[in-house]
Amino acid sequence: MKKTILALVASSVLALASETTINATMSLMTQGMNQIQAGFLYSNKKDIADGIEVLEKANAIFANVDVALFIKHNNKIQVTHNINSNLDKNIKGLKKAIAAENYTDATREYGELTSNCIACHKIVRGW
Ligand code: HEC
Repeated sequence: MKKTILALVASSVLALASETTINATMSLMTQGMNQIQAGFLYSNKKDIADGIEVLEKANAIFANVDVALFIKHNNKIQVTHNINSNLDKNIKGLKKAIAAENYTDATREYGELTSNCIACHKIVRGW
């Protein structure tokens, strides 16, 4: 009995920690995306580079969050892992395109990044 209660407490603490982490991480993701977009629109390369750095940090934290905790009655957990690795590829691609001053590729990567954000939210929220 005692063990069960302890296990319950431990797992709810874990879930709580992940929820705080995910909200903080996602708000960082949003901040990064906004900064990159502003950089595109104002032709400010530094804003784009700074935004990418924010995204990289957010994604590094995000890699340790178990998204499965947020998906109820769902068999799409593997899909969210795939989306996560796509996100990583897009961040790297965006960085490369910016370094090469190839803004056509850069905006394409940015668009794909956005659609990966939405793809996961669609699964998580049943949107
Ligand atoms: C692999 C899954 C996944 C990806 C990819 C993902 N998110 Fe999220 N996001 C979540 C989960 C899980 C939540 C928390 C549950 C919810 O809000 O429905 C969340 C919540 C959010 C929220 C709401 C946070 C709050 O405080 O209510 C924002 C904003 C957000 N994400 C932005 C982004 C942005 C921007 C990207 C892309 C750069 C992104 N997310 C990519 C899974 C993901």
